[in-house]
Amino acid sequence: VKQLHVGVFDNPQANDTGMALWRHPENQRMHFDRLDYWTELAGICEEAHLDFLFLADAWGWAEINGERPDICSVEGLELPRLDPAAMAAALVPKTTHLGLVITAATTFEQPYSLARRLATIDQISDGRLGWNIVTSGTADTAALAFGTAQIKHDDRYDMADDFMEVVYKLWEGCWEPDALVRDKAGVFADPKKVHRIDHDGPFFTSHGWGNAASTPQGTPVLFQAGSSGRGRRFGATHGECIFLSGSGVEQLGGYATAVREEAVNAGRDPQSLKALAGVTVVVAPTREAAQRKHEEILASQTPEITVASYAWFTGLDLSSYDPATPMEELHTEMSQTQIERFKGQTVGDVLRAWHRHGVRAEAIVGSPEDVADELCVLAEGADVDGFLITPLIQPGSTVDFIEHVLPILKKRGAFRSGYEEHTLRERLIGQGSPRLPDDHPGARHRHWS
Ligand SMILES: Cc1cc2nc3c(=O)[nH]c(=O)nc-3n(C[C@H](O)[C@H](O)[C@H](O)COP(=O)(O)O)c2cc1C
Repeated sequence: VKQLHVGVFDNPQANDTGMALWRHPENQRMHFDRLDYWTELAGICEEAHLDFLFLADAWGWAEINGERPDICSVEGLELPRLDPAAMAAALVPKTTHLGLVITAATTFEQPYSLARRLATIDQISDGRLGWNIVTSGTADTAALAFGTAQIKHDDRYDMADDFMEVVYKLWEGCWEPDALVRDKAGVFADPKKVHRIDHDGPFFTSHGWGNAASTPQGTPVLFQAGSSGRGRRFGATHGECIFLSGSGVEQLGGYATAVREEAVNAGRDPQSLKALAGVTVVVAPTREAAQRKHEEILASQTPEITVASYAWFTGLDLSSYDPATPMEELHTEMSQTQIERFKGQTVGDVLRAWHRHGVRAEAIVGSPEDVADELCVLAEGADVDGFLITPLIQPGSTVDFIEHVLPILKKRGAFRSGYEEHTLRERLIGQGSPRLPDDHPGARHRHWS
C-alpha cells in the first residue's frame, strides 16, 4: 500500500479560498490573529503525525470597477491578514516535528530579502520549512499597493524563474554547509568556504555575499501549485511537491501525468516530484449525516460574497454578464486557472459552483469509510502521493478528518503511526538527504563540490 503524505491548509485571515464561512458557529477561524488559534491547530496536526501545516498567502484585495466592495469588509473576505512567515516562526518553539509550509510570492519582493527570511525559519526549525512559490494570481491590486507596474501572467513566471536563480545562488552557492567552524581558538567561519555570488538576470541583479549561512535543508522544500500551462512548466522545473486541484481520478490523474512529463522535459526524475491533491472532506458517521452537515456549513455563507470573491481572484465582475455567457468568452491576466477550469460552463453555472466551493474542488462528503475509500482510489488511480486537507471550518474539519478518516488509512497501512525522518525534505522526498536532489536546478549552484 502506498504511504500517503498529508498536510492541512490554513491561512492567517478570517476566510480563504473564495468562500466566507466565518459565521458558522463552530468555526474558530475568526481568531486567526491569535497565537492560541495556531498553537492549538499545530498541536492537533503534530499529535496526528501529519506531514505539515500549510499557510497560504496573497497580496492585494478584491476590486470591482476600481472599488473594494463593502461586502469584503462585512464578511472579512480577503483582508485583514497576517504574515505567514512571522506566524510560522512563532510556531517553531510550539512544535517539534511538524513541517511548516508557507506561501511567499516572487512578484513584489526582492529575492535577497526573502532568501534571508526563509533561511532564518529553516535554521531555527532545524529543517522543517517548506516554501510554496506563487506569482500571485491577485496581482493587479497588489501592484497598486507596492507601486509597481502591472506584470502580465506569463511574464510573472519568467520573473519567478529569475527570482529562483538568485535564491539558489544564495542558499546553495554562497555558504558551504560546513563553512561555520565556531572554534574559539581558531576561526568562526572558514573564508575558503564562503563564496561571492553574482547575478545579472532579466529582472533581478544581486552581487556580493548572502546574509544567512547554509541552513539544515539549504533550500527549503519547494512547493508549487500553478495550474496554467506556464505555471505547470514553472512547477515542474522548480517544485518538489506540486499541489493539484481537481476532482476524480481522470482529472487529477491527467494533471499528475502532465506535471511529471514536464519534469522529465526539465531533466528531472519524475518520481522525485510529489503530487499532493487539495481535498475538502466533510465526514460524519453516516453518508446522510455528512450531506446534511455539508449543506449546513454552506448555508452559513451569504450569497452576496460570490461575485466579490470571484472578482478577487480574476478581476472579473460576473454579475455584469448575462448568466448564459460561455466562460470561454472571458479573459484575465490574474488567475487564468479560475476561467480555464470552468470550460464548457456558463457564467450562471460558475456563480452557483463558486458559492459551493470557491477555488476548491467540490467536497468529498460521506461516511468515514466512503471518504477513506475515495482517497485510496485517488491515490492509486491518479498517481498522487498524498493530500492537502482544505478544511471548511477550523479546527472542526481537521479534527473530523483526524478522528474519523485517518484511523482507517492507518489500519490499511497507508499512513504512518509516528515521525521518523527529521527534516521536512527527508520525510516528503525520501531520498535520505535533507538537501535538494542532484537533478534539481538549484543543485547546479553547488559549484564547489
Ligand atoms: C492547494 C493550493 C494552494 C494554493 N495556495 C496559494 C496561495 O497561498 N497563494 C496564492 O497566491 N495562490 C495559491 N494557489 C494558487 C496557485 O498557486 C496559482 O497562484 C494560481 O493557480 C494562479 O496561477 P496560474 O494562473 O498559473 O494557475 C494555490 C493553489 C492550490 C491548488
